[in-house]
Amino acid sequence: MLEGKLMRLRAVEPEDAENAFRWMNDREVSRGLMARYPFSFETEREWVKNAVKPLDFGNVRFAIETRDGVHIGICGLHRASAENRHAELGIMIGEKEYWGRGFGTDTMLTLLRFAFEQMNLHKVTLGVFEFNERGLAMYTKLGFVEEGRFRDDLFQDGRYWDLVRMSILRREYETVHGAIGAAAAPAAT
Ligand SMILES: CC(C)(COP(=O)(O)OP(=O)(O)OC[C@H]1O[C@@H](n2cnc3c(N)ncnc32)[C@H](O)[C@@H]1OP(=O)(O)O)[C@@H](O)C(=O)NCCC(=O)NCCS
Repeated sequence: MLEGKLMRLRAVEPEDAENAFRWMNDREVSRGLMARYPFSFETEREWVKNAVKPLDFGNVRFAIETRDGVHIGICGLHRASAENRHAELGIMIGEKEYWGRGFGTDTMLTLLRFAFEQMNLHKVTLGVFEFNERGLAMYTKLGFVEEGRFRDDLFQDGRYWDLVRMSILRREYETVHGAIGAAAAPAAT
């Protein structure tokens, strides 16, 4: 388990399918994820069936759980490239009553530390739709930099929206959040 301040990241379990099904069918939650059509329970069970397989470098998925054991979301690092040392980050806090309380930020910090400290990544990327003000505010606060925009990339709710591409380099993370590996350094005698 990867411990944060407010939450921990644990392996996805088969019983997580019920929450995933509920969240992906909640329009407020899934709107930022390009989830246009309703999801069947079978689709979510299949997704979870894949997610419970042993994790590997190319596909890292975690369940997000509060420190008192409430499953509130899912996150992961996908399409990792061994040569280029980058991967694409995804996050969903599905339980809306936990929004705006720092759980997303704590999840991101824990996942980024894992990306740089354990997977030896150089860069973490993500895409966020321009209407996702909460996501944009959180990523910017964490030190993500806008790389550019895919203009009019999503058609939703009767109009087109830009997809903002963002990334953070390991050295940028370290400048803001502290040196990678510092916790493992031997204590000075
Ligand atoms: C995006 C998401 C991960 C953010 O998680 P969260 O737990 O709400 O985030 P946090 O509370 O850690 O931080 C959110 C920040 O946005 C700010 N914020 C909240 N609502 C806002 C709004 N409408 N406009 C601008 N900023 C906003 C908060 O004040 C907070 O900043 P602060 O810590 O400086 O006060 C979560 O809302 C979510 O999963 N949404 C649904 C799925 C989704 O959109 N995933 C991301 C796809 S790119």
